[in-house]
Amino acid sequence: MASSHHLCAIVAILVLLLNNRGKCIATQPQLGIKAEPTITEIQQAFTSNKLNSTQLLHLYLHRIKKLNPTLRAVIEVNPLALHQAHSADLQRIHKTTFSPLHGIPVLLKDNIATRDKLNTTAGSLALLGSVVPRDAFVVQMLRRAGAVILGKATLSEWSGFRSDACPPGWSARGGQGNNPYVLSATPCGSSSGPAIAVAANMAVAALGSETDGSIICPASVNSVVGIKPSVGLTSRSGVVPISPRQDTIGPFGRTVADAVHVLDVIVGADPRDNATIAAAKFIPVNGYKLFLKLDGLKGKRLGILRDPFFIFANGSLRTQVFEGHFKTLRRKGAILIDNLEIANLNLVRSEMSGETTALSAEFKLALNAYLSELIESPVRTLADVIAFNKRHSNEEMLSEYGQDTLTISQNTKGIKKREKRALLLMSLLSKYGIEKLMKKHKLDALVTPGSAITPVLAIGGYPGISVPAGYEKDGIPFGICFGGLRGSEPKLIEIAYAFEQATKIRRPPSFLP
Ligand SMILES: *[C@@H]1O[C@H](CO)[C@@H](O)[C@H](O)[C@H]1NC(C)=O
Ligand SMILES: *[C@@H]1O[C@H](CO)[C@@H](O)[C@H](O)[C@H]1NC(C)=O
Ligand SMILES: *[C@@H]1O[C@H](CO)[C@@H](O)[C@H](O)[C@H]1NC(C)=O
Ligand SMILES: *[C@@H]1O[C@H](CO)[C@@H](O)[C@H](O)[C@H]1NC(C)=O
Repeated sequence: MASSHHLCAIVAILVLLLNNRGKCIATQPQLGIKAEPTITEIQQAFTSNKLNSTQLLHLYLHRIKKLNPTLRAVIEVNPLALHQAHSADLQRIHKTTFSPLHGIPVLLKDNIATRDKLNTTAGSLALLGSVVPRDAFVVQMLRRAGAVILGKATLSEWSGFRSDACPPGWSARGGQGNNPYVLSATPCGSSSGPAIAVAANMAVAALGSETDGSIICPASVNSVVGIKPSVGLTSRSGVVPISPRQDTIGPFGRTVADAVHVLDVIVGADPRDNATIAAAKFIPVNGYKLFLKLDGLKGKRLGILRDPFFIFANGSLRTQVFEGHFKTLRRKGAILIDNLEIANLNLVRSEMSGETTALSAEFKLALNAYLSELIESPVRTLADVIAFNKRHSNEEMLSEYGQDTLTISQNTKGIKKREKRALLLMSLLSKYGIEKLMKKHKLDALVTPGSAITPVLAIGGYPGISVPAGYEKDGIPFGICFGGLRGSEPKLIEIAYAFEQATKIRRPPSFLP
């Protein structure tokens, strides 16, 4: 026994030495808390005085310093973060009840406005130096809960709306964000930085935004939990937009519970975003955390869309992994309705769905409105942004990546006949597609791998949750997505949480080249 303990100690020291020499693996200050703490564990450590918010923040600043040169997940660190952590610690002396986010460092995608020393640029140099009128509503909610605003996370520039040639996770300000599991693999976008940072434990949690796939996809490939809320559940005011009809703000966490704790704080009605007033009826009085139930799969009716989603190579690792998951879902009491099909799915997933047409016109209107509200800004219109990119073509890598999506949008003239037809087509595709299917089979959720379902969720403003589901042989992660009808977050959270607890797939990043 004694000698084997001795051997273990030597091996542990060797591993430590090797890790210290490796560039990618950060050593961190020793604290009374495990390496990847959950929000609940942190709050317990706070309460028992094993840890305070200032110490926790130092740990995250340390990890950002070590890992960010490799991962490029963070554009800016908040110079006031230490001050906020200190205030949170002082408040603990006098107060007794706290939000679960009190003293917790949270990162924001760089399209989410803060009225402080941080810039809000959607990754573009064109917005550097702009001054926003106020914090985004979701940031106001985070601050009210006592969260520490850690900084801004990288993204696909303009949330992926500049050009199809722009690589996911790349922006002129942030450079190329990298997947912490396999550095050469895509981190996906557009909320790449928030997903990478949470995966690599450079923040406890982060906010991203999704118009079509921008939370679900990076969550899937970076092996974190991402919640894309129903449109209107979270306010978009103060967020650099693509389309008020499809945009939604949602959390990333390493666990379903962490993401849900953040969701509970950021949902709510905002007079500056009318969609939130209509969606407020969906918000449960006692919060979403009540739906973190171990038996959450019991009696849930889950629709499996095989074709084209589960067509992997025969006998592939993924096929085996998902077949295993289906067994687990059944074992935990879910009723699987297999081999379902959404009507006109190929049309929904194609360029002909009307989505591109509508988004082009909506982006111009929404962006111009956002820019016109800024207190100061180098650009006031989409036309200014396009001209800026031409003037700064080197820094914005214009010849490599272009700005086709921006110029196509600039050429639109509002919501005219063509756009109205596109909007009508999308609402019909939703009504006779996913809505009809879910009602016919009385489904609680649809189950799909990765992020291929996102156009369906996007055009109808439907919610989805991505949970880690496995890893390819080469180490690249993949997720499982549970999607549902508007306002079905309570059910989706029950399903996602019970699945996560039954499988516990996520493991820390491997930093493979
Ligand atoms: C946080 O904890 C550290 C270590 O115990 C201590 O030095 C520091 O004063 C604490 N900070 C606050 C604001 O309580
Ligand atoms: C915001 O951008 C300006 C201009 O580049 C820079 O000087 C400043 O440091 C940035 N703010 C933060 C918090 O990084
Ligand atoms: C919200 O709706 C009201 C009433 O229809 C309208 O006057 C107002 O301009 C809308 N606000 C926004 C931010 O869209
Ligand atoms: C897998 O094998 C079955 C039976 O041989 C075949 O019908 C099916 O088309 C194959 N699927 C793929 C994706 O190769």
